[in-house]
Amino acid sequence: MDSTEWSVISILLIFTVIPSCLSLDTIRPNQPLRDDGHDILVSSRKIFALGFFSPGNVSHNRYVGVWYNQVPNQTVVWVANRDNPVNDTSGLLTIDGNGGLVIYGKDRNVPLWSANVTLSSPNSSVVKLLDTGNLVLLEDEVSQNRLWEGFDYPTDTMLPYMKLGLNRRSGLNRFLTSWKSQGDPGTGNCSYGMNPSGFPQLILYKGTKTWWRGGPLSGMPMAITARPFIFNSTVENNQDELTIMYGVISDSSLTKTVLLGSGIIQRTVWNDRWTSIWSAPAGPCDYFGNCGPNSNCDPSNPSIFECTCLPGYEPKSPADWNLKDGSGGCVIKTGVSMCGNGEGFVKLEYVNIPESSMARVNMNLSLKACKEECLRDCSCTAYSIANDGNESRKVRGCVTWHGDLMDVRNLSNVRAYFFVRVNSTVLALFAKNSNGSVSKNGKLAISLASVLVFFLVIFFVHWLVKKNRKDKEIENNYVFRVATLPTCFQNTSADLDDESRINSELIPFFDLRTIAAATNNFSFSNKLGAGGFGSVYKGVLSNGNEVAVKRLSKNSGQGIEEFKNEVELIANLQHRNLVRIIGCCVKDEEKMLIYEYLPNKSLDFFIFNEKKRSLLDWTRRFEIICGIARGLLYLHQDSRLRIIHRDLKASNVLLDASMNPKISDFGMARIFKGDQNEANTNRVVGTYGYMSPEYAMEGLFSVKSDVYSFGILVLEIITGRKNTGYYHEEYPNSNLVGHVWNLWREGTALEIVDSSLGKSYLVNEVVRCFQIALLCVQDSATDRPTMSAVLVMLSNDAALATPREPAFVFKRTYTGGDPSTITTEGAKSYNDVTCTIVEAR
Ligand SMILES: *[C@@H]1O[C@H](CO)[C@@H](O)[C@H](O)[C@H]1NC(C)=O
Ligand SMILES: *[C@@H]1O[C@H](CO)[C@@H](O)[C@H](O)[C@H]1NC(C)=O
Ligand SMILES: *[C@@H]1O[C@H](CO)[C@@H](O)[C@H](O)[C@H]1NC(C)=O
Ligand SMILES: *[C@@H]1O[C@H](CO)[C@@H](O)[C@H](O)[C@H]1NC(C)=O
Ligand SMILES: *[C@@H]1O[C@H](CO)[C@@H](O)[C@H](O)[C@H]1NC(C)=O
Ligand SMILES: *[C@@H]1O[C@H](CO)[C@@H](O)[C@H](O)[C@H]1NC(C)=O
Ligand SMILES: *[C@@H]1O[C@H](CO)[C@@H](O)[C@H](O)[C@H]1NC(C)=O
Ligand SMILES: *[C@@H]1O[C@H](CO)[C@@H](O)[C@H](O)[C@H]1NC(C)=O
Ligand SMILES: *[C@@H]1O[C@H](CO)[C@@H](O)[C@H](O)[C@H]1NC(C)=O
Ligand SMILES: *[C@@H]1O[C@H](CO)[C@@H](O)[C@H](O)[C@H]1NC(C)=O
Ligand SMILES: *[C@@H]1O[C@H](CO)[C@@H](O)[C@H](O)[C@H]1NC(C)=O
Ligand SMILES: *[C@@H]1O[C@H](CO)[C@@H](O)[C@H](O)[C@H]1NC(C)=O
Repeated sequence: MDSTEWSVISILLIFTVIPSCLSLDTIRPNQPLRDDGHDILVSSRKIFALGFFSPGNVSHNRYVGVWYNQVPNQTVVWVANRDNPVNDTSGLLTIDGNGGLVIYGKDRNVPLWSANVTLSSPNSSVVKLLDTGNLVLLEDEVSQNRLWEGFDYPTDTMLPYMKLGLNRRSGLNRFLTSWKSQGDPGTGNCSYGMNPSGFPQLILYKGTKTWWRGGPLSGMPMAITARPFIFNSTVENNQDELTIMYGVISDSSLTKTVLLGSGIIQRTVWNDRWTSIWSAPAGPCDYFGNCGPNSNCDPSNPSIFECTCLPGYEPKSPADWNLKDGSGGCVIKTGVSMCGNGEGFVKLEYVNIPESSMARVNMNLSLKACKEECLRDCSCTAYSIANDGNESRKVRGCVTWHGDLMDVRNLSNVRAYFFVRVNSTVLALFAKNSNGSVSKNGKLAISLASVLVFFLVIFFVHWLVKKNRKDKEIENNYVFRVATLPTCFQNTSADLDDESRINSELIPFFDLRTIAAATNNFSFSNKLGAGGFGSVYKGVLSNGNEVAVKRLSKNSGQGIEEFKNEVELIANLQHRNLVRIIGCCVKDEEKMLIYEYLPNKSLDFFIFNEKKRSLLDWTRRFEIICGIARGLLYLHQDSRLRIIHRDLKASNVLLDASMNPKISDFGMARIFKGDQNEANTNRVVGTYGYMSPEYAMEGLFSVKSDVYSFGILVLEIITGRKNTGYYHEEYPNSNLVGHVWNLWREGTALEIVDSSLGKSYLVNEVVRCFQIALLCVQDSATDRPTMSAVLVMLSNDAALATPREPAFVFKRTYTGGDPSTITTEGAKSYNDVTCTIVEAR
């Protein structure tokens, strides 16, 4: 036999063997999924997997479930036959006329579980697992028409892009329900979802008891606990649906919200392990009815009693109240009836509005009409604005309560409010307290401001909804950019096969003459600056676009290798916090990179300049910190490649016209392949003061060396001082990091905050950034957080770890100019480090 025959045979062999031992991406009528220990269905980007499993591997019961494909400990997020397990490994998940998608045990005639769908053409139906974790049954592969989807039948986990709530057309209400126990995914006692009656709200039930209230559609605490750059949520309330859904902004963060059997709802993020970033109920006030009816629960001062009666009410049982038992709640003191006796309303702010399943809603009434309506109806005890989740509707509705007001509690960060009915005496009392303090002009200013805020909110929500629609469309149709220009290292534009067209984001090739013309023949007046590897010029292309041209000097340290490296790297990177490459140019000795032009120069130009630094207020600086973190996270995780920048510093962070940071200069970056986590180099390149100890001393670099540089950068942004060349009389032996560390331990870190910030910063935020920065510069690389953890820390208020002592490398008295970039060859130990100053900016 000749070799071609052999290969034909082996191909045939492969095709006959594969289906039983490789992961599938589709289930077809003739291609079921068996419980044979091999078969799994994997989503296209390999994020989720589906197959048979036994929870915790403790019982013989087999369930069909969805879990994260790449998380080492199987984390199940969805279960099909949760109440009907297969009791051995005979299980089979298949498509048939018996209910669409079905699970059989030994008995292949009666399904243990079925999706209850009648298929019109069973032979063409397919089942796919999407990258959102949604299992879908499609009518056929062409129409993509969804007959059934797992997201409509959630178990205990809410995933991003999964909707909870009511489908008004089918009547289906999607709830989370807890597992029975860790080893049993059966339907447990707790549930969480939308209660559509009265004024809709999210409620967590334990058994039949209301356990915690997730809040009404407006001001839902769940939606707003984190800063919007990790999560955003959308509420839909229209004739089709009444739902809530949340999305993630950074794709790299695996996140889920789980209802635990103990009645706790918890949101976790994956970074090496599942970390909780939010959970509820979290304090006594969160438990429904902790303070009984008609009282407010205020957790702000835990040492005093959290319950207070609403205005005009008094404790039902003063004795219990004195013993700090508020469960009896409050009642109205008998007096003159509150019906046509000069009664009115007192406004309560920053509170969760009362439980509203019995409330009445009228979307046609304005707030003013609402007040009149409530005043007229003597049974009405309170009223509020009914925001139905559609902020683009300018007429907002009216919600009124009749009877006891339950579960009012303080929400410090939500500006929700309602008005409670009080008698004339109480009204006068409250009116006196609030009268006179606000002048007429003040009132006018406030109402103007609230109108402005209102429109901003409308605009924002509108934008979110629109964006959200767009993303939905993209879910199924992956869009690739098709470039028509030749790549840098391609001699001709011809013969690119489709594969490479898709895989590399092609970048245009510029002619040397074009670039020379654009930069005025590399004139001195066009020069923006000079770096270690050449000069940077401003250019204007014939179409008027401004560009920055990095012209590598012929004898620069950056050889063709680094140049290729940078081009290949950056050509594949697209992120709004990374500088964008527009093209390149190679001609004989000349090598040039053409970037987008950023008018605001680099970060060091601002933060280290006496006059310019006041242009960056704290909010701006915080946004810059977050932007750099996002850019770095993208390099480390999101870009499909794992890229270590290796030279992150203030001068490599450029600012665009609206001061958004963009990381630049990838000449020294390294790509890590596959599972590689750490590498060793005998050519240490980087910048004095920003290099992690393990990198500077042993040449070891990893994502954690970038984290270290990030930490230094954050300290510099807060303090406006350089880590290198930093000197303080009281601490002559420490650099900036050392000084901050000393102050931090003494609890006086705020002393060193850039004085140009004045008192305009948020103390909490600054302290938090100090702590995050100190966590990033810890001596041991394993102690330092990953960038995804850093982003999580930046975006919520959960407690942070206590930093350990940072690395004090490179503290030497320095007498020369400003040392920036060093290159050390073969550095093996601290003593061997030889510093060659290549660049002085
Ligand atoms: C159960 O066993 C499977 C296969 O041996 C393994 O992949 C999975 O991680 C185990 N699950 C748990 C929770 O230990
Ligand atoms: C599994 O369940 C079937 C009925 O569904 C029953 O006949 C069989 O005995 C069970 N097997 C075991 C090992 O429990
Ligand atoms: C299918 O219908 C049966 C009987 O009506 C029901 O018990 C089962 O829960 C349904 N399955 C699903 C997935 O809805
Ligand atoms: C579906 O396929 C089965 C077996 O492959 C065949 O017997 C049956 O006629 C097909 N049904 C339709 C509606 O095409
Ligand atoms: C669920 O509730 C029932 C009845 O109240 C109780 O017997 C059972 O132990 C509860 N199960 C769990 C897992 O809490
Ligand atoms: C959240 O924001 C991301 C990125 O901006 C967007 O893709 C997603 O659709 C948004 N999700 C929701 C639920 O609005
Ligand atoms: C995986 O599970 C084992 C055993 O339950 C546990 O010790 C380990 O910490 C878990 N690993 C992660 C990353 O959660
Ligand atoms: C109004 O209520 C307060 C306290 O709840 C009470 O002291 C007062 O007598 C009442 N006034 C009238 C006019 O009923
Ligand atoms: C709690 O709510 C009450 C009633 O509106 C309000 O007076 C108080 O200022 C709030 N406390 C906090 C800490 O927001
Ligand atoms: C609200 O107004 C719409 C049209 O403006 C009307 O059809 C509807 O009946 C009104 N609803 C109530 C409760 O008044
Ligand atoms: C919101 O209200 C506006 C105006 O009434 C309407 O045009 C729009 O369709 C509504 N949006 C949704 C999602 O219901
Ligand atoms: C509060 O001020 C308004 C107008 O300034 C006045 O009409 C009203 O009598 C004042 N009320 C009290 C209780 O002083």
